[in-house]
Amino acid sequence: MGIAVSTKNDVFLLNTKSTSYGFGIDDRGLVRHVYWGRKLQCVEELELPEFTEVSTNDPVFQITPEEFPVHGGLRYKEHCLKAIFADGTREIVYQYCGYDVEKGEDWEELILHLRDDHYEFFVDLHYKLYPEYDLMERSVEVRNQTEAPIQIEKLHSAQFHIPYENLNFSNVHGHWGAEHQRFVQKVSYGKIVIENRRGISSHNHNPYFVLDRDATETEGEVYFGALRITGNFSGVVEQTAYGETLVQMGLNDHDCLLELQPGESLTAPAILCGYSSSGFETMSHNLHRFALDHIMRKGLRPVLYNSWEATEFHVNSRDQIKLAQKASELGAELFVLDDGWFGERHSIQNGLGDWYVNEGKFPNGLEELVDAVKGLGMMFGIWVEPEMVNPKAQLYQQHPDWIYHYETRVSDTSRIQYVLNVTKPEVRDFIYQMLDNLLTRYDIDYIKWDANRPISQTGPQRDIWYKHIQTVYQIVTDLKKKHPNVLFEACASGGGRIDYGILGIFDDFWTSDNTDAYDRLFIQDAYSRIYPIKGMRAWVTDCPNFLSGRVIPLTFRYHSAMMGSLGVGCNILKFTQEEVELSQRMIQQYKEIRPIIQEGTFYRLENPSPNDYFLYEYLKEDQGVIFVFLPQSKVGHRGTTVRLRGLEEQGRYTLHTSKGDVTKSGSYLMYHGLEVKLSGDYASAVVRFEKEP
Ligand code: DGJ
Repeated sequence: MGIAVSTKNDVFLLNTKSTSYGFGIDDRGLVRHVYWGRKLQCVEELELPEFTEVSTNDPVFQITPEEFPVHGGLRYKEHCLKAIFADGTREIVYQYCGYDVEKGEDWEELILHLRDDHYEFFVDLHYKLYPEYDLMERSVEVRNQTEAPIQIEKLHSAQFHIPYENLNFSNVHGHWGAEHQRFVQKVSYGKIVIENRRGISSHNHNPYFVLDRDATETEGEVYFGALRITGNFSGVVEQTAYGETLVQMGLNDHDCLLELQPGESLTAPAILCGYSSSGFETMSHNLHRFALDHIMRKGLRPVLYNSWEATEFHVNSRDQIKLAQKASELGAELFVLDDGWFGERHSIQNGLGDWYVNEGKFPNGLEELVDAVKGLGMMFGIWVEPEMVNPKAQLYQQHPDWIYHYETRVSDTSRIQYVLNVTKPEVRDFIYQMLDNLLTRYDIDYIKWDANRPISQTGPQRDIWYKHIQTVYQIVTDLKKKHPNVLFEACASGGGRIDYGILGIFDDFWTSDNTDAYDRLFIQDAYSRIYPIKGMRAWVTDCPNFLSGRVIPLTFRYHSAMMGSLGVGCNILKFTQEEVELSQRMIQQYKEIRPIIQEGTFYRLENPSPNDYFLYEYLKEDQGVIFVFLPQSKVGHRGTTVRLRGLEEQGRYTLHTSKGDVTKSGSYLMYHGLEVKLSGDYASAVVRFEKEP
């Protein structure tokens, strides 16, 4: 396992538990890709093929699969790095100058050192292996050791080469209220570009790639990578004329220019990548397990109640206390006061930036609500949108130059707000101080950090697209150092911020403002392919749903939300006694199965029926849960067969169905399966099971 280097020191084979990744240095110093796939045994067997130009129009630099193509020379393909030196030279010519290996408890890292032929400009390619997870993190560090600034015009973190054509590329498209809409498209000649240019990562496309060879959940080859950044990114997939598909991803070069001062370095966001020869399920499992073990904060996420949909901006101490009392009666563990508690925030018109408690709404201070919530035995959470300011807010009146702007232009508002230039030290300090004061003064356990508009009119700086999100990361990291028990939720107008960058900085992630329980099945399915279930916050909300107008039974709504980190966002003061009791039962059941849901292994099960069943399984050691959904039932419809996964063939499992307990062997449940038939619209069931000792 780990890093193997050929005796001639020119070929590297990076092995994980069941995969290998290989590249070598050729006689002209090019770092050339040679292999990515199932595990190989011997580095000495890997050879770098001789490349001769196909024609003068197909030069060697163009056709060579390079690990990290730079801009310059006879390269016309996508490059990962373009630098402009102080004298105007816009070409990089690199030389290979050795490698280092570092090792940790469960990782090994190869660092390949490249330097420019003429300038004191260094490029380190990092390959960090996590063998047990079959994953690797690739990133690149560039260092300026010249005497003058160097401008970085393009920085992608890595290039990958897949030795096939006609692959399937999958990602998500979407917008506010419809995030994570999965799409699959054939890769052919030409390029596929996915990106974000708005300063966030995820409403539209999401910063990852998945390329497969007609794979299913459990069979077939899948190549994947997820970029660890929450701001602008871009990714390019291209089937070349030379019999391969290349993919690269990194910082979006749209309106971006990063300047490296003498002595400065910059590390591009890492790409967490891997290969599966057994379908999408293995990809998801490896990513999920790695995220739980290495990226995310440990511990189960609380069942929350959030008052946004119940009260919107019309918050006041009395009503929020009533909601908190009811939420506690239902079994919620965390009460979150959303937008509207501060400044003159009575609508989207005003308030952002003025982070003092509104006295009219909280005449006895915020303490009254905090104490009431704590008295009920719940944690207390509060909403903020620190990167923004309303034009009418005092903050803007005092500091009109704190927003992103051009001196000669009018800055656009969106949701009647501007974006603060958080990269200015005084703005960053203001935000840190404001949150630190809030957390110090009040007994707050949870911050919901929202960001409801894209960035525009960035001003003369072209590095803010990168620096903005780095500053947000830094503020939260610093706050967590001082307030280590506080959980931070990332929300950006719904699901605008979920990616492998933010996953290690925040703790909870709002999936979408679309809380329609049926739509959520699709959103959650797509989300689960890359992101761990613990990071998927899901609320039960009122019907008719404010977006879809759909009316769905409360049980189905709970079941759909129980597939992630459960939250409730209904106006619970209007609940009937029957709804209260149902909620109490559901929340209690969720708490019992929560470790299996949030920390278990998640399976998207096959639905062999022509009817639209949605079937999912969660498994943690000897305990499991099955979710069955049937949104619409046709008269005369056939049921479905639930074939479980991940069980021990010889083990005996008891399933607690609504018709009584059923005990079967693991092999029966996995290969024969259980017949299930639901009826009626929006029918659903949650079935627990465990293995006999
Ligand atoms: C957008 C979020 O997604 C909602 O949950 C809510 O917090 C509103 N912002 C508040 O303005």
